[in-house]
Amino acid sequence: MAKYGVMQQSHTWVSPRSSLLPSSVSDFHGSSLNISIQSWRRKCQPKETAIRVMASSKNILVMGGTRFIGVFLSRLLVNEGHQVTLFTRGKTPITQQLPGESDQDYADFKSKVLHLKGDRQDFEFVKTSLAAKGFDVVYDINGREAVEVEPIIDALPNLQQYIYCSSAGVYLKTETPPHFEVDAVDPKSRHKGKLETESLLVSRGVNWTSIRPVYIYGPLNYNPVEEWFFHRLKAGRPIPIPGSGIQITQLGHVKDLAKAFIKVLDNPKASKQVFNISGSKYVTFDGLAKACAKAAGFPEPELIHYNAKEFDFGKKKAFPFRDQHFFASIEKAQRELGWVPEFDLVQGLADSYNLDFGRGTFRKAADFTTDDMILEKKKKLVLI
Ligand SMILES: NC(=O)c1ccc[n+]([C@@H]2O[C@H](COP(=O)([O-])OP(=O)(O)OC[C@H]3O[C@@H](n4cnc5c(N)ncnc54)[C@H](OP(=O)(O)O)[C@@H]3O)[C@@H](O)[C@H]2O)c1
Repeated sequence: MAKYGVMQQSHTWVSPRSSLLPSSVSDFHGSSLNISIQSWRRKCQPKETAIRVMASSKNILVMGGTRFIGVFLSRLLVNEGHQVTLFTRGKTPITQQLPGESDQDYADFKSKVLHLKGDRQDFEFVKTSLAAKGFDVVYDINGREAVEVEPIIDALPNLQQYIYCSSAGVYLKTETPPHFEVDAVDPKSRHKGKLETESLLVSRGVNWTSIRPVYIYGPLNYNPVEEWFFHRLKAGRPIPIPGSGIQITQLGHVKDLAKAFIKVLDNPKASKQVFNISGSKYVTFDGLAKACAKAAGFPEPELIHYNAKEFDFGKKKAFPFRDQHFFASIEKAQRELGWVPEFDLVQGLADSYNLDFGRGTFRKAADFTTDDMILEKKKKLVLI
């Protein structure tokens, strides 16, 4: 049966040299972006010799790895000299050359990364195929329910570490933000499957680490967060923001998140620990709209505030964030892991714009239907 199989591209161990980032980015937003990108590359590129890399090489399974977070993480893991296998259904291309990535770097990555094709909902296949491979470490990037994790743990009795992509969405709404890792969680949240997975990892006695990102942004973002603002800025339209616009939120750059995932690997300080990961500063909705404009080189936009309760948008989402304060402390990751987010918000948004939206690529086409409803109502109020 040809439905599932392992596509092996190469096993040769060589000193890592590739980087995801371009040697020169078409940078039309000033030198700070360039400096940031260059230093991200320097920090992510191991300087060690092939000997050290060989000694610490692990056989790593990434559940997912082809959409957003996993794309950046798998490059870092391969650069660190690990043998990396991506488990996906193969609906999304297994590798894709990233904007700005050199032909050589891409070829290097492509030749080293392995693919295991299958559906993680097919628990029997997961068990047999993983048992045959005997992975040392699992990065579970796309897991949502505990039941999807059990067969992986069953299949790998000698697993060294299970690193899980959870979400800051698990926290109970609080009147005393930011969320800390020890804070109460919401067993009824949309992300309760993440919580149940964390509990399962505890109960199964594996060496686990759970990462709880807040909103993630960066090139290739599947979640239309920054691109929602970029669409409006590009069209020269005002930006409709619910409420007062001073709701505070937080975004973390995908490359900083990938670095945090690397920092926890084989790290005793990360054993059986949860870490919030995001940007080092919080931002208001209004501030985010202005930061997007600044990052992409657009004039400061007109902001239109509206009362969301006065509208029926049907199934359409009028704004890409939950209409509330939502932010988490990243102190624990900084203190325990020595992880430092490299991108400040404007630099990170510029990186996203320059490598993605600014090149004409985005995930969701512009739709200003809800904006027009809001603007129409405002216009009527002015006329009255
Ligand atoms: N976006 C945010 O702001 C945010 C915040 C907090 C947490 N998160 C978490 O981030 C994770 C998403 O990360 P990502 O999409 O960037 O991860 P990724 O590892 O880059 O990509 C996920 C890959 O999983 C594969 N996949 C989907 N369903 C599958 C299945 N049934 N069996 C096997 N493979 C499957 C898909 O490939 P195929 O289609 O080819 O199978 C997809 O490309 C989620 O766990 C989410 O909860 C996101």
